[in-house]
Parts: sequence; structure tokens; C-alpha cells
Amino acid sequence: MPKALITCLHLQRRFDDFRPRYDALGVEPVLPKIDGQQLDAAAMRSAIIGMDAVIAGDDQIDASVLEAGKASALKAVIKWGIGTDGIDKPKAKELGIPVFNTPGTFSNEVADLAMSLLLNVVRETHLMHQSIMGGGWLKVPGRSLVGMKAGIIGLGSIGLGIARRAVAFGMDVSGYDVRPLPADVLSSQPVTQVGLDELFASSDVILIACDLTPANRHLLNADAFARMKTGAYIVNVSRGPLIDEAALCAALASGKIAGAGLDVFEVEPLPKESPLRGFKSCVFSTHNGSNTLEAVARVNQMTTDILFHALGLETINFTPNRVA
Ligand SMILES: NC(=O)c1ccc[n+]([C@@H]2O[C@H](COP(=O)([O-])OP(=O)(O)OC[C@H]3O[C@@H](n4cnc5c(N)ncnc54)[C@H](O)[C@@H]3O)[C@@H](O)[C@H]2O)c1
Repeated sequence: MPKALITCLHLQRRFDDFRPRYDALGVEPVLPKIDGQQLDAAAMRSAIIGMDAVIAGDDQIDASVLEAGKASALKAVIKWGIGTDGIDKPKAKELGIPVFNTPGTFSNEVADLAMSLLLNVVRETHLMHQSIMGGGWLKVPGRSLVGMKAGIIGLGSIGLGIARRAVAFGMDVSGYDVRPLPADVLSSQPVTQVGLDELFASSDVILIACDLTPANRHLLNADAFARMKTGAYIVNVSRGPLIDEAALCAALASGKIAGAGLDVFEVEPLPKESPLRGFKSCVFSTHNGSNTLEAVARVNQMTTDILFHALGLETINFTPNRVA
């Protein structure tokens, strides 16, 4: 009987909805207990043994995990969601293990969260909320989004979703991407593509929506903050390591950066001792951009479909996105 390892917590929580399909197709689901947000490489290495396929969250699937899987029964890795930075894709390709993900499936939800973080940061609604909960009635002078310049890093599905929303808020939107966007895509989107230097120098708000790759770790570092407008805001809904958090703390402390809205962090959950916790000008969320009832149901369904397709047990009516 084929075995499927399910390490994505969103799918684990709703697994009873899918269990009858596994039973009908004769696939044994294996749902390990996960403390925290994901499994590290050591835990994945032992969990992968004997598994025919895995539906993974943000677990670490490095070369050692893939080699252990290949030596056992592994035929496919399905990433629940978009970011595949935790998976050694060149190694998967070398070993002939296909890796699938589900791009574009919750761009709207992550773009919504980016705008929510931005609105909270510029209007400091978190401080008013805290005040009221404590019996107070704090008035906070916020900033107007209308007329501000938004600079979006990464013009993929989330970045363009943010661009459409930012324009609706009356912002002037430009974006930077390592790949030039085709003219027909750009002409249909409310965004001008600019270089990174120009984006840093001209933006009142910088929103990060690109992949994390080996080339762009700490894309926002001390040098980048120095090149930004004084009083700029930062929003990151992509991956924590794109920002050097120590440099961000220094920029927040000096006032160079006025505030930040962060859904993702260099280490997750954010360590108790993180100096970021000391900044009232920051609003945080818990790497939760895709977590709406609707988006989770959609991606649970899609990854389950890809799993049975990859195991040759069912045909599907869409082409799954293969990243390795
Ligand atoms: N917060 C969350 O819950 C959450 C949920 C989903 C995805 N994400 C993250 O968001 C990222 C983007 O998702 P997407 O659906 O828009 O992906 P996408 O593939 O549609 O777009 C990513 C874009 O980033 C660009 N890019 C890569 N490196 C870059 C760089 N150094 N500078 C500028 N642009 C660069 C790519 O060319 C591409 O256009 C994912 O990789 C994932 O890490 C976060």
C-alpha cells in the first residue's frame, strides 16, 4: 500500500475531509506530530523513509532528505503553497524526484494581508486597540496613504495583487523584479517597472513580495536602508531572510525607517528575545498570509489532487506546476 506523508499543518487540521479519498484509493496517510511550524531536516530525514510522496509545508527538504527518500520509496514532493526555498530543487532534479507547488492559489489573500499590515502600520491601529483594551482612548496621528509612493519588490502574482490594491488606495505604484515583465503584462497592470536603486530612493513604502533565493538573502540590509527615504515604511509578506533584522532594528531605532509590518521573520516563531518586539512602530503577524478558510480549502484540495496524480492513481483536469 503506498504511503503519503502529510507535514503541512493546514492539511493535517482538515485531514478528515480527505481521509475517505485515501481509503478509496488505498493510500495510507501518515501525519506526524509537528511542534511549531515545520519539520527540520533531521526530522524530515527520518519521516520520509518508506513514503511514496509527501505534501509538505515549509519543512526543510534538503539534499539529505531527498537522498533518504530516493533510497526508500519517494516518487514526488508536493509543496503546499508557493515558496519552495526550503527544498533543494537542483538535488531533486538530479535524483529525478518531481517537485510540485501551487502558484497563484492565494495571491489575493497574501496581498490582502500586505495591505492590512500597511494600513495598521501607517494608522497605528494596534496602539489604539491596545489603549482601548486597557481602558484608554488614545488618539494617534497617522499618515495618509493617498499620494504615497509604493515600491513593490517582486512583481509575481502576490506583488501584482498588492499593486492593484495600492492603486485603489490612491498610491503611486512602481515595482522591481529581476526579470523584466513582458510589455503586455506591464501594460495591463497599474505598475511601472524600475531599478532597485530607484525604488529604494523614491518609495515611501517598500513592500517585499519576491521569492527567497540563494542570491537575495538580506536584500534589505544596512546599505539598502541607507539608500531609502528617511521615514519610509517596510512591509514583508514574502520570506524573513530577505531582511537583515539587525539592520532593520538599527534603522527603526534611528528613525530612518518609520515602521514595519512583518508577516515573516528570519527565525519563526519570532524568538522571545528578538529586539523587534521592542518597537511600537511595528505590526506583526504569524506567517499567516494564506490562512483564510477559503484559500486553505482550495489548496488542500489541489495538493491532494496532485498527490494522487503523481502516484498514478487519478487523472486531474489541470496541469500541476512542476518546479523541479
Ligand atoms: N506570507 C505568506 O503566508 C506567504 C504565502 C505565500 C507565498 N509567500 C511568499 O511570497 C513569495 C512570492 O509569491 P508569488 O506567488 O508572488 O510568487 P511568483 O513566483 O508569482 O513571483 C515571485 C516574483 O519574485 C521575483 N523575484 C525573484 N527574485 C527577486 C529579486 N531578487 N528581486 C526582485 N524580484 C525577484 C520573480 O522573478 C517573480 O516575478 C513566495 O516565494 C513565498 O516565499 C508568502
